[in-house]
Amino acid sequence: QVLILDFGSQYTQLIARRVRELNIYCEIHPYNHPPKNLGEFKAVILSGSPNSVRGENVLHPDLLEIRGKKPMLAVCYGAQYLAHFAGGEVAASNTREYGRANLSFVLNKEPFFENIAAGSQVWMSHSDTIKELPTHGLLLASTKDVENAAYKIEGEDTYAIQFHPEVYHSKDGKQLLENFLVKIAGVAQTWTPDSFVESTVAAIQKQVGSDKVVLGLSGGVDSTVAAVLLHKAIGKNLYCIFVNNGLLRKNEFESVLAQYEGMGLNVKGVDASERFLTALVGLTDPEKKRKAIGNSFIEVFDAEATQITGVSWLAQGTIYPDVIESVSVNGGPSATIKSHHNVGGLPDYMKLKIVEPLRMIFKDEVRRVGASLGIDAELLGRHPFPGPGLGIRILGDITAEKVRILQEVDAVFINGLKEDGLYDKVWQAGAMLLPVNSVGVMGDERTYEKVVALRAVESTDGMTADWVNLPYEFLQKVSNKIINQVKGVNRVVYDISSKPPATIEWE
Ligand code: XMP
Repeated sequence: QVLILDFGSQYTQLIARRVRELNIYCEIHPYNHPPKNLGEFKAVILSGSPNSVRGENVLHPDLLEIRGKKPMLAVCYGAQYLAHFAGGEVAASNTREYGRANLSFVLNKEPFFENIAAGSQVWMSHSDTIKELPTHGLLLASTKDVENAAYKIEGEDTYAIQFHPEVYHSKDGKQLLENFLVKIAGVAQTWTPDSFVESTVAAIQKQVGSDKVVLGLSGGVDSTVAAVLLHKAIGKNLYCIFVNNGLLRKNEFESVLAQYEGMGLNVKGVDASERFLTALVGLTDPEKKRKAIGNSFIEVFDAEATQITGVSWLAQGTIYPDVIESVSVNGGPSATIKSHHNVGGLPDYMKLKIVEPLRMIFKDEVRRVGASLGIDAELLGRHPFPGPGLGIRILGDITAEKVRILQEVDAVFINGLKEDGLYDKVWQAGAMLLPVNSVGVMGDERTYEKVVALRAVESTDGMTADWVNLPYEFLQKVSNKIINQVKGVNRVVYDISSKPPATIEWE
């Protein structure tokens, strides 16, 4: 319904998320590669950009088919672009305008600013400023420092704003997007988890027909929601494979497998722990460990998938952030495509076609869709867990004994978080087994045993993260429990590093 043309702003995905929160479907496309079905979109939003309209690397969108023909909202760079190339003037501002500001003037007889009063807080992030509006520009709002904070082009449904409505600090940002999309562009608010399930089920049935589909379940949210959605569409023709790589959490394989069976999924659990551990013997380099785990997974998955006669599709839990073609900023205005495959490298002779039912939705929407499908809230609220599992949390070489120790430690930590109501306040938590021994005393004896590091972070997408200020009493309780209950550990430390510069995992 709504097209967002991306000029490389760090906030482009946020615009899409805000629009989706209004129950409106939208897609992000690079400004220089608009979609072929442009005619089907009801409104267009131009994103911000780190570039300047005055510099050498001006990003020139092709607005011929859009401007004046469809309702258009130009944000930040978009607003400056319109001004600069349509008879106005853009200049470097004297001070870098960054952070909170308040609208000092608002033309609220305009539907664009309905329910938004002067004084409303907005978020600015720009170093150029619009000195003069373009031809037929009508001023709609100002702040103390930015006179031309919002304008429209008279005679068109073309609106432009210097601030960022998508950023949380713009208090009425969502109202503004709603005013533009619903009141001005007349877009229907019909995109809900239920409608997504309904249309996706129909789309899968059309795409796959009566063919057989194979899917690798990981215990994570994305693959689980993808599986339940496919199961709703094609029932027993969906064959799920859940591999135990021996690096899962304590009792995870059995309990998650039972949950999957309880949901009615046609799932085969394959315990390949020995095979993975054998492939890992003697490996200490993190990338070599990842490769060994990845390759073993493909071998095991292939062997299982090959046994399903007549299977012709591979389903994956790929989500929208992995798919979006974003404008790469540093490499110039060329489009780069990030792609990610949870399961790759199937043998050629299988020639599987790919079905990705979640490829157009964000993580928070995956959870909402999961809830709409009736998936257990506990399963949907699980912390992210890396594919290579405990394999990259055991620093150095991996042995069955080390896996046992770390599983026990992790269980004490995670259960403790749950018992104290902290689990849902943390984005991801886990324990790392360090490749050093340290001296301790237990009773009258000296010990020389393992050190574990606990890690708990807050994040929205794992790209950046802050360590969580867990209560001292909690850390004390968990530390005592680990040292008393887990044989082989005599020291517990808590990781207080943020990402960047540290990463979430230690390897
Ligand atoms: P880092 O350690 O890069 O982690 O800060 C960011 C997020 O990615 C997860 N992670 C992985 N996930 N395979 C995965 O499937 C991996 O090799 C891998 N390494 C890190 C990590 O758990 C965190 O959520």
